[in-house]
Amino acid sequence: MADQLLSTGPPRRTLPESYIRPESQRPRLTAVESDANIPVIDLSTDDLSQIMSQIRDACQYYGFFQIVNHGMPTGLMVEMKAIAREFFSLPPEEKAKLYSDDPAKKIRLSTSFNIRKETVRNWRDYLRLHCYPLEDFVPVWPSKPPSFREVVSTYCREVRQLGFRLLGLISLSLGLEEDYIEKVLGEQEQHMAINYYPQCPEPELTYGLQAHTDPNALTILLQDQKVAGLQVLKDDKWIRVDPRPNALVINIGDQLQALSNGRYKSVWHRAVVNSDKERISVASFLCPCNGAVISPAMKLTGEGSPAIYRSFTYDEYYKKFWSRNLDQEHCLELFK
Ligand code: SIN
Ligand code: FE2
Repeated sequence: MADQLLSTGPPRRTLPESYIRPESQRPRLTAVESDANIPVIDLSTDDLSQIMSQIRDACQYYGFFQIVNHGMPTGLMVEMKAIAREFFSLPPEEKAKLYSDDPAKKIRLSTSFNIRKETVRNWRDYLRLHCYPLEDFVPVWPSKPPSFREVVSTYCREVRQLGFRLLGLISLSLGLEEDYIEKVLGEQEQHMAINYYPQCPEPELTYGLQAHTDPNALTILLQDQKVAGLQVLKDDKWIRVDPRPNALVINIGDQLQALSNGRYKSVWHRAVVNSDKERISVASFLCPCNGAVISPAMKLTGEGSPAIYRSFTYDEYYKKFWSRNLDQEHCLELFK
């Protein structure tokens, strides 16, 4: 039912009841800290050992970092965000063709997170796309705006390349072979969520996306350059991850937490909304192939540091993820 989309109806003057969080779960926007400490890593630095130690610290203590000079063309990032905005301003009948609230679909426009399961909604519309292999999916992507397929597929290719480079650096930073993670994850799937958070009449009562950890391996987020919204939990405090010129935000997902035997953290994060401006973000997710068996790397376990997670296949994990509520603890199973 496409009339559920926030980007379709007229701007709302009050927040509908279905979006209002109970008092104890509201975002407390004034208590959020600035992002002075979220690491910013310059990938053009020649000193590999410096990059390595920055990545290690960031993944251990924050689970999040920003990267600059990463090789993704600035013009492409600008085009990607422009096409996202254009997409959400298409006429309702165009968007209705793509609407679905079935998480199993490989292309769908939807709202909130999983409206089949949740009791309170999120102030967000999103277009979710499977992106690998591109030739299987691009022909069924939206044909409007006219340059959508070209811009988004070019962006996906660049993101994938960058993602593999990061996975190599992350492997090395754990003391593993550079291709260790890539080999374990197999022929990786790639998904994308293009998020649109409209202006919200009462942002203190709701979320754009409630707190969650990412179920995949690695997430690469292209943020709105002007409007902040992403927040990360560190030592029980929420910190803003403010937009930086030309930066991309990287975070560790549950799979890398498992594979690193808990050394690297898949941390809670959320998106808040605001009353002045709409916000766009584009999240690209690198995911293990469905049959990949994920378990703590042998080299990171042994005397004094036994494996803390049971092994599982990604397929099992992903099904579990979608069958529960977003704000529940990750689904990694501990050895008791
Ligand atoms: C996400 O966590 O997937 C989205 C975060 C954002 O919009 O900043
Ligand atoms: Fe996320």
